[in-house]
Amino acid sequence: MRPPLDSPESSETAATIADLPCLDTRTDPATAASDQICRDFRDALGSFATGVTVLTTLTSDGRPIGVTISSFNSVSLQPPLILWSLACDSPRLEAFRNASHYAVNVLAADQEWVSDSFANREDNRFSGVRVSKGLADVPLIKGCVAWFECSNEARYPGGDHLIFLGRVQRFARGEVTEPLIFHAGRYRRLRGDSGQ
Ligand SMILES: Cc1cc2nc3c(=O)[nH]c(=O)nc-3n(C[C@H](O)[C@H](O)[C@H](O)COP(=O)(O)O)c2cc1C
Repeated sequence: MRPPLDSPESSETAATIADLPCLDTRTDPATAASDQICRDFRDALGSFATGVTVLTTLTSDGRPIGVTISSFNSVSLQPPLILWSLACDSPRLEAFRNASHYAVNVLAADQEWVSDSFANREDNRFSGVRVSKGLADVPLIKGCVAWFECSNEARYPGGDHLIFLGRVQRFARGEVTEPLIFHAGRYRRLRGDSGQ
């Protein structure tokens, strides 16, 4: 809960950003690109807890591909739009850029192994993963908490990532409701108040 403006917590005891050790990426572009700053930046971003998704699509020759993505987010309700971003050096970038459709598979708490598989394995990422066919034959991973089947609406440059805007054509919620969480570089589970 937000403290009242004149409470000790807000005016005296609480540290402001000016009191904290702060990294200023404006000072020197060379410093901003240094390994240490990149690591610190990544760690600070990692304090934002997210769910975990696997983005799936087909290559132009009909091969299923997928990649673990936590940058998924909602954008617009009307029209229904979502976004996510993929590293420009991903070997799967061109396939996703050119795909007419892709799917966002929102992983369940017991699908940590699926996340690892689509983040780490070079080939056979679908090995052991049960799928069904969605719009445009895009694979949908079974056992997820939700699916968003999207057409590939737009793409925007975002530094070393490409930002994808997807128009949701169809969506569903699974029977499983507890999502997989990613925070500070580790998988987590919702504890206590699961909201059910
Ligand atoms: C939990 C988690 C979230 C990730 N989120 C993203 C993301 O949002 N964008 C991205 O480009 N890579 C992300 N990655 C890394 C990619 O999954 C990984 O680099 C990729 O699968 C490597 O495969 P590639 O050969 O397709 O690049 C994430 C990895 C994990 C484990």
